[in-house]
Amino acid sequence: MHPVLTQVGTTTSFLSPPIDKAISMATMIEARGLTKRYEPAGNERRRFRRRSETTETTGTLAVDGVDFDVEEGELFVIMGLSGSGKSTLLRMLNRLVDPTSGSLHIAGQDMLAMDDAQLRTTRNSTINMVFQHFALFPHRTVLENAAYGLQVRGIPEAERVERAQDALETVGLGRWGHVRPQELSGGMRQRVGLARALATDAQILLMDEPFSALDPLIRRDMQSLLLSLQEKVRKTVVFVTHDLNEAMRLGQRIMVMRDGRVIQLASGAEILSTPADDYVANFVSDVDRSRVVTVEHVMRPPLITARGDEHPQAVLDRMANVEGGGVYVVDERDRIIGVATDKHLADGIALHQERIDSLVCDDFTTIEIGSRLIEVMPLVGRHSVPLAVTDHDGRLIGVIPRAALLNTLADNGRSLNA
Ligand SMILES: Nc1ncnc2c1ncn2[C@@H]1O[C@H](COP(=O)(O)OP(=O)(O)OP(=O)(O)O)[C@@H](O)[C@H]1O
Ligand SMILES: [Mg+2]
Repeated sequence: MHPVLTQVGTTTSFLSPPIDKAISMATMIEARGLTKRYEPAGNERRRFRRRSETTETTGTLAVDGVDFDVEEGELFVIMGLSGSGKSTLLRMLNRLVDPTSGSLHIAGQDMLAMDDAQLRTTRNSTINMVFQHFALFPHRTVLENAAYGLQVRGIPEAERVERAQDALETVGLGRWGHVRPQELSGGMRQRVGLARALATDAQILLMDEPFSALDPLIRRDMQSLLLSLQEKVRKTVVFVTHDLNEAMRLGQRIMVMRDGRVIQLASGAEILSTPADDYVANFVSDVDRSRVVTVEHVMRPPLITARGDEHPQAVLDRMANVEGGGVYVVDERDRIIGVATDKHLADGIALHQERIDSLVCDDFTTIEIGSRLIEVMPLVGRHSVPLAVTDHDGRLIGVIPRAALLNTLADNGRSLNA
């Protein structure tokens, strides 16, 4: 398969040297109070003097006391408007920007205590930065470009070629190794850049808006590719974006920044359902919530259910005050036996049936907890009873009335909090 990829998942050489801090192996990045103040000196002052937050005496506080952990294998997204400090924060993680204060440990190693030589080694072996423009070399072939990170590290040519070829195959460009980048489309070039990052052993990928220059369809493809790659190779990815849809799609957790501070750090679904403040809520208002919100946020308890040994008249009586043309019939463990529609109940009464279990039908659809609304939409409104939500043991735990689903999709979060 892909020898490159199987190697990458392991954590051997990097984690084995003396670990100078008690830290769980699962924590890959640990930042505490990370702060960057750009000083108002020389070129910096001239470039940034027009920004209101910049003064001659204080400089620009670009990142202000940020705490967070990133777990090994996590796809962690940093999101915020322009100027909120995302790039500065990302660049501090490999010390392309030196923090003014705070602490930073990568896989247990104190990044701020490293000298230049140690830093170079770490950047080559552990942390790989992927920029918005992957900066391919026009005069080298695609394969040579993909192998570049390995060449810098002095990997022998035969191994370089093999690993780069593997990485190209992983991103779907296995047959393009011999051409020059300019013969490829923009999306394909981005794939080469991704292949270059994958070909190295680096366990951590830092990605600063890598897809923002791509048109929307290619961008979606690249997101899918990154997701599937990440599932396979389990790299730790820190991904910067100012696009909430992208953040929601990619991020296991999303850290929302504003003016250099963390406003919220949570899963996409949490951010949608309970935005920390108006700034976050503003981001949230334009996201396609159907892709993110799960059924738990929309489902309601079933208003009535029935047992198989009940009399049809008793069930029909209880249904009198409930909208909907039927009722879920469940066993003693709440697993669904079927649906009794009002029509079948009435027929049963006419036929002197004593119990409803002979009257149930399969006019219903179930969906498991954790499913996203986008999967649910085509299923809603087809039956006389609302869509059933079941747990992993098949127990009925809620229903999704069509109106509740439409409300959720239409409004900006109120029904999610309800
Ligand atoms: N080299 C620098 N010298 C001085 N100030 C800087 C420098 N780089 C960034 N800044 C300032 O720090 C703040 C944060 O900038 P940063 O580039 O980290 O934000 P960002 O969230 O990445 O923005 P964008 O979405 O536009 O890329 C801004 O006010 C910016 O002007
Ligand atoms: Mg930036």
